[in-house]
Amino acid sequence: MYVRQTLVFFSLALTSLAAGSFHCSAQTAVQSSEAQAMLQRADTLLKQMTLDEKLQFLISKYPFIASPGGGAGFVAGIPRLHIPDISNSDSATGSGSKTQASTTFPSTLAIAASWDRQLSFDYGAQIATQLRAQGFGMGLGGGGNLTRDPRGGRGFEYLGEDPELAGEMLAQRTLGTQSKHILASIKHFDGNEQETNRMGGNTTVDERTFRELYLLPFEIAVEKGHPGSVMCSYNRLNGDYACENNHLLNDVLKHDWNFLGIVQSDWGATHSTVKAINAGLDEEEGSEPGPTWLNRIDVLYALANHDITEARLDDMVRRHLYAMISTGLIDDAPKEGGKIDFVAAAAFAQHAEEQSIVLLRNEGGQLPLVAAKVKSIAVVGAHADVAVGTGGGSGDVLKPVTGYIAGCGGLAFGTHAGCDWWKSPWVKPDVPIVKAIQEMAPGAQVNFAGNRDELEPFRAYSNQEIAEAAALAARSDVAIVVVDQPAGEDFGDLTSLSLANPSNQNALVEAVAAANPHTIVVVESGNPVLMPWKNKVAAILEAWYPGEGGGRAIANVLFGKVNPSGKLPVTFPEHNEDIPTWGRDGIMAKDPVYTEKLNIGYRWYDAKSIKPMFEFGFGLSYTHFAYSDLSVKTAADNTMTVAFTVKNDGPVAGAEVPQVYLSIRDQDEPPMRLVGWSKVDLKPNQSRQVTLSVSPRQQSIWSVDANGWKFIAGSRVYVGASSRDIRLHGE
Ligand code: BGC
Repeated sequence: MYVRQTLVFFSLALTSLAAGSFHCSAQTAVQSSEAQAMLQRADTLLKQMTLDEKLQFLISKYPFIASPGGGAGFVAGIPRLHIPDISNSDSATGSGSKTQASTTFPSTLAIAASWDRQLSFDYGAQIATQLRAQGFGMGLGGGGNLTRDPRGGRGFEYLGEDPELAGEMLAQRTLGTQSKHILASIKHFDGNEQETNRMGGNTTVDERTFRELYLLPFEIAVEKGHPGSVMCSYNRLNGDYACENNHLLNDVLKHDWNFLGIVQSDWGATHSTVKAINAGLDEEEGSEPGPTWLNRIDVLYALANHDITEARLDDMVRRHLYAMISTGLIDDAPKEGGKIDFVAAAAFAQHAEEQSIVLLRNEGGQLPLVAAKVKSIAVVGAHADVAVGTGGGSGDVLKPVTGYIAGCGGLAFGTHAGCDWWKSPWVKPDVPIVKAIQEMAPGAQVNFAGNRDELEPFRAYSNQEIAEAAALAARSDVAIVVVDQPAGEDFGDLTSLSLANPSNQNALVEAVAAANPHTIVVVESGNPVLMPWKNKVAAILEAWYPGEGGGRAIANVLFGKVNPSGKLPVTFPEHNEDIPTWGRDGIMAKDPVYTEKLNIGYRWYDAKSIKPMFEFGFGLSYTHFAYSDLSVKTAADNTMTVAFTVKNDGPVAGAEVPQVYLSIRDQDEPPMRLVGWSKVDLKPNQSRQVTLSVSPRQQSIWSVDANGWKFIAGSRVYVGASSRDIRLHGE
């Protein structure tokens, strides 16, 4: 019933240039008739509002006293005009209510690893269903920052290192959330790629890099997902705080992208009244009770002084109303006390994880395990008998329906005092890994070895524990070692990609691998992990932070009930020193300067000819896929159509993610960029033609001179099973 805002862009300066290129130097957006109708409805309400009522929309209150349902903030509605309250909650991997139980889904990064747009939509919808039942009208769960430094503490909340992948998945997640009439916020806008100096470090980035990389996921999500809100971030960006950055908020988001919804600040990210309002901030999420900037008195003072205009105040309020109208929230506000079907949600959590696990290594067909053939299985490490890892901070589920391990061991947690929900990166699923494996192999002896101390969940393994684990592995047919890399908001960034908490997990893997040639490693992480033992183990699964369905999902992949189909959304380097941001000493800058420009992630490894351990887009399957029959056609408007055939020529059914990359003819461009992909399910011997459309924008670079996208003709096309496993190419 609620039609999303559709934009029609008119290029004012669409000039044909030599060699078939064009540039758009200025764009004017015209609202569709649906958007116009919604704006009109917003205006009608606005005209009936008193000044006091308008001011009420500028601040969202925190903490819980004013935030029903244990959420993060609250904006009161206006009952006489039938405008409902908006209570908001974090929702990165599930609802972040502090008082109501919620399902822990796999981390956002895991969803990116599925490369499955529909799954991302469903993920948004599933989380929104719980938000609704808990009385929240807004979900703060749409992270879209890119993995510039793979050590980033909040990497698990985001969608990897590629702007197209991140943008498409974020758009779908947003549509899924809003399909339940829950207003979605996308964040953290922008240049907020690290936790080091997290409350205000200055990010310096040039405009071309910014447009082609860090802005692009948000641009795609705004264009295709129509989020009700965009959250500006803590950091400064080229000098100005993001929440008072005129270029970011007014020029790019509101003018160039014609965003009609709310710009809300991150919590405590507002630093001024007049500057912020004039730069485009619409709503302060704050620290009430306590000092705020967009409070009644300061805004009235600014109005009286003509530092801000009434028209701008109306614009702020209209955006609030438009976001509620366009998402359907205004007519369908949620109420606390709804019933949640936790069984169905757990099934989805498991399914999502099954689509996201990446098989990184499988020597000699070690996997899938055949239950009838294994008599004894050793499971080692990472509390696999009781828990799976999750990311910490606001991106975590704070009251998991299945419970969590309360201790936080020797980890340092930024400024957060005590050892509470904020920092428990372990969720206890109903069916932990050990139990799930036993279910899959009922005839086998399944034994666990490792640290059972829940109060010190990250302490180093003792020599005795390592020796016991190795001894158990030696007398078992198969050994499965689970390792975990905790990370989270306010934990700081990782100092290294090496398994660090505890640091001797590498020794544990080595000892087990030395004792048993059939050693399989399962990694739980929100970041890439170094694997010095890679060639000594038979198989490796990357399971991310797997959510509460993780036990069964991992077991199903280990035993081939599910054929893995995830692909890496981030490069896994061989060494710390290989990453683009390592510099001389690996110390993360307090005020990062993006000197690597366009070369992040696979773009960096390709440009510098560095061989990663596992490249972007990589992931194995229990079957095999063949690629053939590439055809590339370009239409008069420069839209490119790429078609090819994928065939499952292996033994079992499976899904493949064929990826299309372009090499753009421009000396400053990295060798390749992802422009499209599909996820195709194929039975043995089945083949399918895949047809993908590559827009002119995807074949363009950002021209600083023209202040617009500049089409570059003659790109070379690569089709492959990963960014380095190229199977077909053409012009
Ligand atoms: C985080 C946001 C989050 C907010 C509310 C902040 O610390 O950066 O991502 O939405 O808290 O919990």
